[in-house]
Amino acid sequence: MKPRQIVPNVHLVGAVDWDRRLFDALIPLPDGTSYNAYVVRGSEKTALLDTVDPSMWPTLAAQLDQLPAPDYLVIHHVEQDHSGSTPLVLERCPDITIVCDEKAKALLLDHLHVDDARFHVVADGDTLSLGDKTLRFLFTPWVHWPETMSTYLEEDKVLFSCDFFGSHLATSDLFADKHEVHDGAKRYYAEIMMPFGAQVTKNIDKVTQYPIDYIAPSHGPVYDDPSFIIEAYRDWAGGEPRNIVCLPYVTMHDSTRLMVEHLTAALVDRGVAVERFDLTTVDLGELASSLVHAGTIVLGTPTVLTGPHPLAANAAFVANALRPRTKYATVIGSYGWAGKTVETLVGLMGKLKVELLDPVMAKGMPRAADFAALDALADTIAAKHKDLAPRAYADLAVCRHEPS
Ligand code: FEO
Repeated sequence: MKPRQIVPNVHLVGAVDWDRRLFDALIPLPDGTSYNAYVVRGSEKTALLDTVDPSMWPTLAAQLDQLPAPDYLVIHHVEQDHSGSTPLVLERCPDITIVCDEKAKALLLDHLHVDDARFHVVADGDTLSLGDKTLRFLFTPWVHWPETMSTYLEEDKVLFSCDFFGSHLATSDLFADKHEVHDGAKRYYAEIMMPFGAQVTKNIDKVTQYPIDYIAPSHGPVYDDPSFIIEAYRDWAGGEPRNIVCLPYVTMHDSTRLMVEHLTAALVDRGVAVERFDLTTVDLGELASSLVHAGTIVLGTPTVLTGPHPLAANAAFVANALRPRTKYATVIGSYGWAGKTVETLVGLMGKLKVELLDPVMAKGMPRAADFAALDALADTIAAKHKDLAPRAYADLAVCRHEPS
């Protein structure tokens, strides 16, 4: 693929990773991903913005062959899917200067053992002239690491945002179709940005002080209609939870499944939307996306070796790490003789600022009294949710786990 022009003398380079299916040995990539780098050619100097995952270096190198040799390498973020080919760029361009912030420099020294003499360290708001093009560096911490910054190309109103506004989406399109990119962008936000929602909102406010015609992230397509993704991010990071129960569950001998089926129907009967996930087959990105707007989390689990099923424990751990703005949480499930299932799961979700609702744990196969307790739980959730907004159309784009 040749370098692709966004505006005159600004090109997308980098690589589309069509076949990658797992990131960080954790995050499923059902639609692949891309590692975007950009070349900005000024009348006097040329800058390469970011590199690619080292596995894709030959693709980037072939594209750089078609453009002037860069004078600067701007590193927005040190995670190796963007910075990992830095040593190869330095080898290819022995006179190139790395432009980054102080925190990124320290991380590059630690992670890639880059030569200390190659850096030009910038402060927040600094500019770098390439002649007729000016790069302004805007610190945007925690999207996704503490060192992350964005670059604003003043003359062309392009924001190079790195992970911020990105999506794990392999596509041949240069510019984003909002219907195609929405689900992937929301998954991406949920998986890595959601724990930093307050910082994300501050960063949105910061970058939108500048007029933006294009957002060029480091994953997924470029936005030539940036208002769509900016408004989506404002909602994901700062919007209130909705009238949705996120219901991840696992069952061994169907006692928990009977309870999950009953609660699902009881909630729907009371006007509460349910997003339900079988934890034996769940895609982590779908679960994370559901947590963005869920008003309540209900974890369903049997008791195994006196505690929750490990898949339920993992779901609790993930929810705790992602820190959604969910308001309520509880546990339902079954046990054979005893156990500390509820206490263990509640302990695993200690960072969530939720009100804990009464759990419903059945001894063995659920009886009428257990189903009545589930009805009471559904009543409680419906009452707690009565002031929450309904699930918006956009939320439906990811999860459609309605009861059968
Ligand atoms: Fe795409 Fe945080 O790296």
